[in-house]
Amino acid sequence: MVMQHTVETSLSYRPGGAAAPVSVAPMMDKTDRDYRFLARLFSPHTLLYTEMVSPRAVLHGNREVLLAFDPVERPLALQLGGDDAGELKAAIRIAEDYGYDEINLNVGCPSDKVQQGSFGACLMARPEHVAHLVTEMRSATSLPVTVKHRIGIDGLERYEDLARFVETVVTEGPAKLTVHARIAILGGLSPKQNRSIPPLRYDDVYRLKQDYPNQFVEINGGVTQLSQIRRHLSEVDAVMIGRAAYDTPQLLAEAEREFFDPAFVAPSRGEIVERMVPYIVERQAAGRPPHTVFRHMLGLFAGQPGSRIWKRSLSSGIARDADVPALIRRALARVPRDVLERPLTAEPTGRVAAGA
Ligand SMILES: Cc1cc2nc3c(=O)[nH]c(=O)nc-3n(C[C@H](O)[C@H](O)[C@H](O)COP(=O)(O)O)c2cc1C
Repeated sequence: MVMQHTVETSLSYRPGGAAAPVSVAPMMDKTDRDYRFLARLFSPHTLLYTEMVSPRAVLHGNREVLLAFDPVERPLALQLGGDDAGELKAAIRIAEDYGYDEINLNVGCPSDKVQQGSFGACLMARPEHVAHLVTEMRSATSLPVTVKHRIGIDGLERYEDLARFVETVVTEGPAKLTVHARIAILGGLSPKQNRSIPPLRYDDVYRLKQDYPNQFVEINGGVTQLSQIRRHLSEVDAVMIGRAAYDTPQLLAEAEREFFDPAFVAPSRGEIVERMVPYIVERQAAGRPPHTVFRHMLGLFAGQPGSRIWKRSLSSGIARDADVPALIRRALARVPRDVLERPLTAEPTGRVAAGA
């Protein structure tokens, strides 16, 4: 029997803040600053997360590359992956000046590399240490400190194991728990398999919210439709979307209208591309090759006539000094006009195939 807790959550609802009802998950190699700039055109208020950043890299690496972002990306949470309180605190103090809205600790990543560093999902076996990290992280910042974790790992797979983890961690006041509703199998499955093979157990996350009603709880895993977001929000405080947010941008535009701004008018795909041009040119001038931004735009026309030719045209623009406006103009000329002009939300989610 799990006791109900009375821990006050420090998050109250502010549209678009760290307590946003919808967020886009941290995803390595996907949610970089270029993707996030693009995502803001689909949804101005959804909370965005960075890719996981190592505190050690922040301390010793190129901080501008690791931490800098465009203010339009806010609200934005920085995800850190580490297990050393001193390093986490030092990284947070540096990161705070960049203007993040939330600091998140990764307790969900199952990769071998992360396990060798003893952080990520394997920290679920050390709830006292996670609680200690939360305390230390909170002492370094006034920003909300949050934790993203799984419902369990191999050997600690029951709801009672999850509840014991949460019971220990919530005493240190994490502003939010984001719970990926799958266990992570640390021996034998790749990170990719760990995102699909262990079954989703949404009921465990719902039960967690019932047992800890004052704790802000966000659910994550397998959300691809607006109707699922609605259903989850009747049980928990927020919903985090990963792969579907990246692959089907209209889901974000629909979420913006339903959960943040009923007056939101979704741009058309043509408008989105036009608005990306000056950004890509600016990034190019700062030394960023255009294809690093293009790669996030390849799936923009997925499921639409002209999608293949769009991808092919952009893929040819990998040269560092490519003439971006001309290249985009040529690529757009090959996409049917009605596809370019139709608002992003014109097709219901689910009809469009996964993108890039
Ligand atoms: C390519 C990729 C990279 C990911 N990188 C991270 C990461 O850096 N940190 C993290 O906490 N989770 C990471 N995840 C997991 C996602 O945040 C999310 O928990 C998972 O994809 C389940 O949500 P979904 O079913 O909505 O995609 C990654 C997922 C993908 C697909």
